Amino acid sequence: MRVLGIESSCDETAAAVVEDGARVRSSVVSSQQRLHERFGGVVPEIASRAHVENILPVIRMALGEADVALDELDGVAVTHTPGLIGALLIGVTAAKALSWALEVPLLSVNHLHAHIYAAWLDDGTAPPRLPALSLVVSGGHTSLYLTRGPLDHERLGGTLDDAAGEAFDKVANILRLGYPGGPAIERAAAEGNPNAVAFPRSWLGPESLDFSFSGLKTAVLYHCLGRNVSKEDIAGASYEAGFVADVAAAFQEAVVDVLVGKTFAAALRHGVGSVIVGGGVAANSRLRQRLRARAREEGIQLHLAPARLCTDNAAMVAGMGCRLLAAGRTATLDVEAVP
Ligand code: KG4
Ligand code: ZN
Repeated sequence: MRVLGIESSCDETAAAVVEDGARVRSSVVSSQQRLHERFGGVVPEIASRAHVENILPVIRMALGEADVALDELDGVAVTHTPGLIGALLIGVTAAKALSWALEVPLLSVNHLHAHIYAAWLDDGTAPPRLPALSLVVSGGHTSLYLTRGPLDHERLGGTLDDAAGEAFDKVANILRLGYPGGPAIERAAAEGNPNAVAFPRSWLGPESLDFSFSGLKTAVLYHCLGRNVSKEDIAGASYEAGFVADVAAAFQEAVVDVLVGKTFAAALRHGVGSVIVGGGVAANSRLRQRLRARAREEGIQLHLAPARLCTDNAAMVAGMGCRLLAAGRTATLDVEAVP
């Protein structure tokens, strides 16, 4: 079974071909990073326009790299929620058109569930033992799920304010490190001392499986520029490299402490045998290192997708599409993009 996946929920236009839910035949990602970086974040109108320009070349490239012809596809899968509405619409419209023209089923995929599905894509490791505890850490979401199957996720908690990736992006902006912030903070932190500043960890009570990162972001802001700070102060700020490295390392450690702590608290509470972590922030090497250490300590299997399948891609969408197709859970042409 071969499914074409299409992803356009934010600032990556992506297409991929996946066979039998696991084998990635191709995965093409066209990043719009360069278009958005001078604005310090994703501009929705610019994203939509770039998706329109990129979607057909990216699909052609994915089919070409997979060496699969259009008439060899068994289905077309697309991210239909959540994301930027204008951006989602481009992928959903392209997928509907292809599904209708090729007379193959349309599969509609939840982007957050697709990030979890990356654990089932073939990377040489065994598929996750079930039930599993899944953490999705991306630019827009930080959520915990109890995963009973590749298509079955019960949400246990999530962020009440900023997502983890959003906090990385905002702190990178405060530290004048550019966009996207995650990789920039990770690079700066490599030279810093994680204990240089005692930033707050927001646990929200002993039983809570929710997250809050906005207090941490504000603590970083006050530490760097004081309490009565304006937007102009942030834009005009300059710091010594050693200061930036220490703040980045201490901030990253605070985020990682909470992500690892809550994920394993939830895993132990639900008695699961494995933990799955996906989403752009899961590319962070300090987070990966701390997750591996904790999983070893607890004797829990850890599924960390390779970094290229953590950030937005369409292989995770196509893979999940294969499973939906096999389960007969196809979508109709009136499926809507939902932000
Ligand atoms: O999953 P993703 O590609 O897009 C969304 O679904 O949002 O995640 C993007 C987020 C951005 O906030 C980016 O700063 C963050 O993932 N990110 C990282 C790293 N690479 C990407 N955060 C921390 N460390 C990284 N290495
Ligand atoms: Zn994502």
